[in-house]
Amino acid sequence: MQDQARVVAPNVEFYDAQPALGNSRSELLAGLRQTQKKVDPKWFYDAAGSQLFEQITELPEYYPTRTEIGILKANQQAIAQHCGDGCLFIEPGSGSCEKARLLLDTLRPAAYLPLDISADFLRETAVQLGHEYPWLQIMAICADFNQDWPFPDNLPAGKRVVFYPGSTIGNLEPQAATIFLKKVRHLIGEDGGLLIGVDLHKSSQRLHAAYNDTSGVTARFNLNVLSRLNEILDAEFDEGRFSHKAWYNEAEKRIEMHLVSDSVQAVRCNGQYIEFDAGETIHTENSYKYTVEGFAELAAEAGMSMQASWLDQQQLFSVHYLSAAGSPV
Ligand code: SAH
Ligand code: AVI
Repeated sequence: MQDQARVVAPNVEFYDAQPALGNSRSELLAGLRQTQKKVDPKWFYDAAGSQLFEQITELPEYYPTRTEIGILKANQQAIAQHCGDGCLFIEPGSGSCEKARLLLDTLRPAAYLPLDISADFLRETAVQLGHEYPWLQIMAICADFNQDWPFPDNLPAGKRVVFYPGSTIGNLEPQAATIFLKKVRHLIGEDGGLLIGVDLHKSSQRLHAAYNDTSGVTARFNLNVLSRLNEILDAEFDEGRFSHKAWYNEAEKRIEMHLVSDSVQAVRCNGQYIEFDAGETIHTENSYKYTVEGFAELAAEAGMSMQASWLDQQQLFSVHYLSAAGSPV
């Protein structure tokens, strides 16, 4: 990985391990050729998509971000005791690093490793963070967290703590979530930990509102996938001919987000045509909701056990500290 390292500020290195364009094209086309057309949610996040997600976190209807921030603030000392001093603090899907900011002064990690798919947003965020925390060594890695995590060769020693807030785990299918957790288990070894935010079951009305905000930001976030497809596949999707749809699938305990074609249409994509019926959808995201017990079971399948759980008063959202099952706390 060393050859891909770039020093972007005195205390910030940026490692670029973005997936190759050719692989991205084949992956996207394969998804669009399935009976239920699909695009992985990672494609939401270019610089514009990351900005739109930041706007979502401020929406009155979108309770997860402010609720999780409340939990992290209220339990900062207990969380710090679990993480210990001078850990390697690794955050897959780091976004704006806003939640890490809440903990950095208390944790004083040996290094902070934000890892995200959104290259420009990650680099800019890391540089800004480097200015705000001049004492902190930052190694920012642009990569897909569902692939191997390409760590720098000069990784400092220390207890490894993976920070995975935001309920980003909910965007993975349960099987992929188990694989992800196994990867984390391997990375943290016997003495490390996982600090994770998980969104909880709740009324379908509340969930519906959170993904169908009245100002239409979530719709713009969802539709942004079409401009990614246009750019990567040299395609001609017309945003005006698709609409945002999100609902709570009660049986699967997940929010589903789709883009609905308004009419019969054939869209040129990479020199071929992808055909749509009227009302046919591209499935862009699932957002699974868990119970504390259900999440503990998922973690157990990956060889991890819960050491502590923190919830808000309304039990909307949960934060957990986990370590390898059977290892001393
Ligand atoms: N952790 C932040 C951001 C959550 S949004 C918070 O809690 O608010 C999800 C983040 O994960 C985005 O920044 C997105 O770019 C990143 N992401 C989504 N899929 C990814 C993938 N497959 N690999 C790496 N990063 C991914
Ligand atoms: C990042 N992730 C956990 C968000 C979620 O709630 O599933 C993404 C999102 N999709 C629509 N709104 C927010």
